[in-house]
Amino acid sequence: MSPAEIMEEINASIGFDKALAPHDIRASKAHAAMLGQQGIISKDDAKKIAAGLDRIAGEIERGEFVFQRALEDIHMNVESRLKDLIGDAAARLHTARSRNDQVATDFRLYVRAWIDEADAALAALQMALARKAEAHSALIMPGFTHLQPAQPVTFGHHLLAYVEMLGRDRGRFADARKRLNELPLGSAALAGTSFPIDRKRTAEALEFDRPTANSLDAVSDRDFALETLAAASIAAMHLSRFAEEIVLWMTPQFGFVRLSDRFTTGSSIMPQKRNPDAAELARAKVGRIAAAFQGLLIVMKGLPLAYAKDMQEDKEQTFDALASLRLAIVAMTGMVGDMEPDADAMRAAAGGGYSTATDIADWLVRKLGMPFREAHHVTGRIVALAESQGLTLDQLSLPAMQAVEARISKDIFAVLSPESSVRSRVSYGGTAPQNVRKMARAWIKRLEKQGVSD
Ligand code: ARG
Repeated sequence: MSPAEIMEEINASIGFDKALAPHDIRASKAHAAMLGQQGIISKDDAKKIAAGLDRIAGEIERGEFVFQRALEDIHMNVESRLKDLIGDAAARLHTARSRNDQVATDFRLYVRAWIDEADAALAALQMALARKAEAHSALIMPGFTHLQPAQPVTFGHHLLAYVEMLGRDRGRFADARKRLNELPLGSAALAGTSFPIDRKRTAEALEFDRPTANSLDAVSDRDFALETLAAASIAAMHLSRFAEEIVLWMTPQFGFVRLSDRFTTGSSIMPQKRNPDAAELARAKVGRIAAAFQGLLIVMKGLPLAYAKDMQEDKEQTFDALASLRLAIVAMTGMVGDMEPDADAMRAAAGGGYSTATDIADWLVRKLGMPFREAHHVTGRIVALAESQGLTLDQLSLPAMQAVEARISKDIFAVLSPESSVRSRVSYGGTAPQNVRKMARAWIKRLEKQGVSD
């Protein structure tokens, strides 16, 4: 490789920053209009620039645009094509700006558009979950701690746990969006410009809340991308946990849910298998998303103000991470819609493992006035007894229980079934079917108000 070839290869970003094209063109149009308005360029030139940029947008959309690596990046590719199309007026577009504030603006527009799309996608996933939760608000399944059966819960309650998590994810993206929504354009290379620009006008045209207040900061921070990637990593972690549960539930050992072959694959040599590939891949995406957060953090660490070319390394991994999260969200949404719970398998698993032991302890406290610690101890002995006889708790005889604690009466049987256990969990946020139904409906209403259909 010649030095020129090496330089082109290491310096060019067009291979990935072409994804900024629509934003680059939009921002340039707003900039040119403002320059014209302010009399910095002629109205006629501003018009020519706008028309040329529109043509370029069309060429890119139709796949006709020829991206050239020799022109380094999207900004120079667009400007060079503009020169072909409209001649000298093209050279006036770059007045009172630099590629530094230009790329900071484009990247913000890109991340902002992604946040808006991701928010809608997350809301759709919440809706799918809330609808499933409403349909299965009373379906009994084991709740786990340490992945050991702990207490029965309802399937609806379990699904609504994810609706809450996704709600916070959306909140994090909304917060990031607020701080992101300031316009860098007009900061020029690093120090501002001597031209009488109107940054407020450009900000309005590009739907930013205001122009950034410090030109050095504006061209050289990427915290908006980092914040979005941090929120994306957390959201991806949530999806990963849910995906892992689907993988577990799909095993014959659990058998809690069935997924159709729309989201599973068969094995080429084992015909009985149904592999949850989509869930596994959604589970894995958090890897590259969290890596992108780390990657960008390390790129930015220790960079002196203002712009440095290091920052060109901000885009590729961010684009990849954000696209990956979007795909994981829609994959999970598809699987939630597709998923059919197996009520018998869930009920059977919920009945095993002495999962209503806490209900016995609570009964002893409520009916006999026992301190909880003591009730816990007595219950432990009852469970040991059942275990030694190979019985479930509701199969134990009353005399057998009375041998452990004489004051136990037959109405204890009312709390021994998983159904009565979940029904009793009426505390706010608890798993009682009536709670779950109410919560699911409240979420559906809230999401409908936000314009989510299904
Ligand atoms: N392609 C560059 C980037 O992504 C654009 C900014 C170039 N600025 C400069 N001073 N060389 O960062």
